[in-house]
Amino acid sequence: MRWWKLTAFAMSITLFYSWQVSPNQTDQIVEGRSLYLRHCSPCHGEKGKGDGPIAKIVKPAIPDLTEGVFKFRSTPSGNLPTDEDLRRVIVEGVPSTPMMGVKGILSDEEVNSLVAFLKTLCPDFKDKGNAAPIKINPVPMTPKLLELGKQIYRDFQCNTCHGEKGDGDGPMAKSLKDNKGRPVQVLSFRDANNFKNGYEPAEIYRTIMTGLDGTPMASFADVLTEEEGWAVAYFVHSMISQKPARQRSNISIPVKTVQGSASMLSVDDKTWEKISSFELPLQSLWRRNRPESVRLKALVLGQVLFLRLNWDDTTFNGKGKVLDSISVQIPINFQNPVPSLFWGDHVSPVLVFQWIAGKGLTVFEARGFASKTARKYEAEGRGVWRKGQWTTVLKLKLPKLPNRLPFSIHLWDGGAGDSGEKRSITGWHWLQINPY
Ligand code: HEC
Ligand code: HEC
Repeated sequence: MRWWKLTAFAMSITLFYSWQVSPNQTDQIVEGRSLYLRHCSPCHGEKGKGDGPIAKIVKPAIPDLTEGVFKFRSTPSGNLPTDEDLRRVIVEGVPSTPMMGVKGILSDEEVNSLVAFLKTLCPDFKDKGNAAPIKINPVPMTPKLLELGKQIYRDFQCNTCHGEKGDGDGPMAKSLKDNKGRPVQVLSFRDANNFKNGYEPAEIYRTIMTGLDGTPMASFADVLTEEEGWAVAYFVHSMISQKPARQRSNISIPVKTVQGSASMLSVDDKTWEKISSFELPLQSLWRRNRPESVRLKALVLGQVLFLRLNWDDTTFNGKGKVLDSISVQIPINFQNPVPSLFWGDHVSPVLVFQWIAGKGLTVFEARGFASKTARKYEAEGRGVWRKGQWTTVLKLKLPKLPNRLPFSIHLWDGGAGDSGEKRSITGWHWLQINPY
């Protein structure tokens, strides 16, 4: 933990001299940096170059935050985002990608600190400063406007990339590259979960009029009038058939206390029938999603926490090299800040309960994916695979449970090639526990 403090001290001196910021701002930037190291650097890298320890496997590619080319802006193409734009991305995350967002985990002040720190990573913020956002004045939707939007979609050749029906299968879609020559995927407009920059008409309008810089998605602000921009935004919005988008983190799950002795429950125990099931969306770190979610039931019985996890998996992988597996992580110390999602960090380590098909349950302490130490723990796990689904029950005896316990689930689908860092994750969610 000492290096942490030392680097923070060195950092404030550098900031003071090279950026000439006030001591208050320095404090904010130092706080922002420590939050960044915990929640962002595993992907974005210590200096924002997009080279964090898990960046190699993450798809889509992690952007370089130091170069001054930003996709998600409310400012005209070629400009830096506003502080509000950065806040939005940090809080909400980027849908359809493994960047989850920190809603419910960090306070507004902490998010502001992150914004202040992010801006020190990219010299353009100091040299050029923020630009003003474009005007967004909604025009009411009418059938005529929608018809105009349909025509613009064809006239301006949105379909060559996005496809006739918005499925992301236009003739150019397969060959598109970003400004670094990396392939760019065009996702379907049918599913609200695919809109990285928001799927409400005003958000789609913003995307069309500002462009996603660094990608083939250009700004149309110079060629469309405001009315035409709204027309095509409404038309794109009308193609969404699956909405609203799923909430990927910060779901609170009430945990019932049930009377009885705390002997291990089977996956089919009658007690589970009385417990509501919660669907938690999964996000693969490296491939298109499968399975899409894990279903959780939780209860407390005789002062012991039981979790029942159920998910789709068409192939049984309980032998060989790539095994089906699931893990639940919780912070070791509830007083500490919510840990890094990637199995904790040096300040906030986690306890991981991992059930592996064919092997059973192991418990370890982790400070990041690369740092695991086996721990003796009163815990049991069971799993059953049938009809294309896994169901596991985990029994965890925690010495004392807080009222709100943050947890997150990591899952490996052996049949899909998951192993090691290649896995699907949920964001941080909360178990809302009655005091016992
Ligand atoms: C699991 C990896 C991961 C983590 C953790 C992560 N990000 Fe990201 N981030 C990404 C990816 C991937 C993208 C790009 C998505 C895209 O453009 O398709 C991104 C995009 C961004 C962008 C938008 C850049 C632009 O072009 O507009 C910002 C800003 C950002 N991240 C900041 C953060 C901050 C701050 C944190 C920590 C609170 C964080 N990220 C945590 C993976 C991650
Ligand atoms: C040359 C190819 C190309 C053309 C032409 C094009 N787009 Fe795009 N568009 C893209 C790509 C690539 C992305 C995804 C970028 C990414 O995710 O990094 C995108 C993303 C989008 C998104 C954002 C979805 C999100 O993630 O929030 C919208 C909305 C959109 N385009 C609308 C349009 C409209 C409307 C037109 C025509 C006026 C158009 N596009 C023309 C390539 C194109």
